[in-house]
Amino acid sequence: MAKAERLYRFLSACIYEIAIVWDVDPIRNPFAPGAGQPPPALVGRDVELGAARVALERLAQRRGTRGALYVGVRGVGKTVLLNAVRRAAGDAGWIVVKVEAARGRPLRRSIAQSLNTALRTATGRHVGGFDRALAVFKSFSLTTSPDGSLALGIDVDPAGGIANTGDLEIDLTELFGELGAAAADLGIGLVLLVDEMHEVDDHEIGAIVGALHDARQLGLPITVYGAGLPNLPSLLASTRNDAEQLFDVRHLDPFDDEVAAVALTSATTPEGVGWTGDAIRLVLDAAAGLPYFLQMYGKHVWDFALASPITGADARAGVASGRRELETVFIGAHWERATPAQRQYLEALTLLEVDGRASTRAIAESLGATLGSLSSTRDQLLRKGTLYAPDRGAVAFTTPGFADFVRAHAAS
Ligand SMILES: Nc1ncnc2c1ncn2[C@@H]1O[C@H](COP(=O)(O)OP(=O)(O)OP(=O)(O)O)[C@@H](O)[C@H]1O
Ligand SMILES: [Mg+2]
Repeated sequence: MAKAERLYRFLSACIYEIAIVWDVDPIRNPFAPGAGQPPPALVGRDVELGAARVALERLAQRRGTRGALYVGVRGVGKTVLLNAVRRAAGDAGWIVVKVEAARGRPLRRSIAQSLNTALRTATGRHVGGFDRALAVFKSFSLTTSPDGSLALGIDVDPAGGIANTGDLEIDLTELFGELGAAAADLGIGLVLLVDEMHEVDDHEIGAIVGALHDARQLGLPITVYGAGLPNLPSLLASTRNDAEQLFDVRHLDPFDDEVAAVALTSATTPEGVGWTGDAIRLVLDAAAGLPYFLQMYGKHVWDFALASPITGADARAGVASGRRELETVFIGAHWERATPAQRQYLEALTLLEVDGRASTRAIAESLGATLGSLSSTRDQLLRKGTLYAPDRGAVAFTTPGFADFVRAHAAS
């Protein structure tokens, strides 16, 4: 009997060991920290996604609707949401044009590049439906790339005298007009998705707004969804008075505790792994609701855990390790690249900030300098994307956690 019991204990210990190994297997780590990485479960954005679905459906029925702007700080989930809209439009058979704006990258080129692929897919599905639009697209793309490299696989002659003036607003308006008309005949639509839209030049933003305005007046099924830092709406407003009326501006905020906890548990539950209350609390406090931080801490905590449920000790170790990675990849990189004058400016902002922002005048006063003498340092930090200007006369960190990082590292 004793022998049988020993054997039973031995076998259960083995099974337990196996369970430990498989419980929180690093290979099955579900978390996905990283710019634009699809999360294990997309949480907390039902309202925005619901609104986007309604808007697309309305547009398909030729009912008026606005585009949308998703704005928020770094890591809040703008790109992921934009990609969800992209999927919704793609599933509905729409023409989807997605570009990521960057300083110095002409928008016309990016649009032509993405449209090239989208149109080849669309013409495969709707043979003959886009003949005229293809010719106009060819004319548009040859204007930016005369060697034809952005019209590969589009074997039609360019339409003469249309979408080829070199003025983006005129050409995009004409291109949208043709594409919109073709899409409407086929019962679909076109969505232009612009990520990092705050990086688009003023005249290019003006062109997008102008072309969208025109398409809307003609009742064409064309819309624009943009994502960018919180200063995007004011950039847009400065190009045209009516620009903001064309967009539904959605400020994306970090998650509250309830949604943040769901982001963690909905990632691990499908893998059969749970959390103790302590462990969840620790990660929630460290992440402050930012989706990127939740993914990063979640990933590190999982790698420290051996068995389900994940414990407070696992969470403590994982958060410490996740913080080191965040400081290297997300926050520290800005600091490392900053010049001594820029660091001084960032330190002053850190001392004065409320909700990550402060007035430029107060920063100048605290440094005993004039606004004018600091303007080039401020502009450099804006250009590098370390700061953004939430309002006239104010600056703010683009990256959550930056002020804490500076407090901890400034003296060292
Ligand atoms: N709704 C969500 N639910 C869970 N995780 C999310 C959600 N949205 C984003 N994430 C996660 O957060 C991280 C950042 O997402 P994303 O790149 O979309 O942020 P962003 O706002 O575009 O940041 P940036 O300003 O740096 O471009 C990714 O790891 C992503 O998986
Ligand atoms: Mg993004």
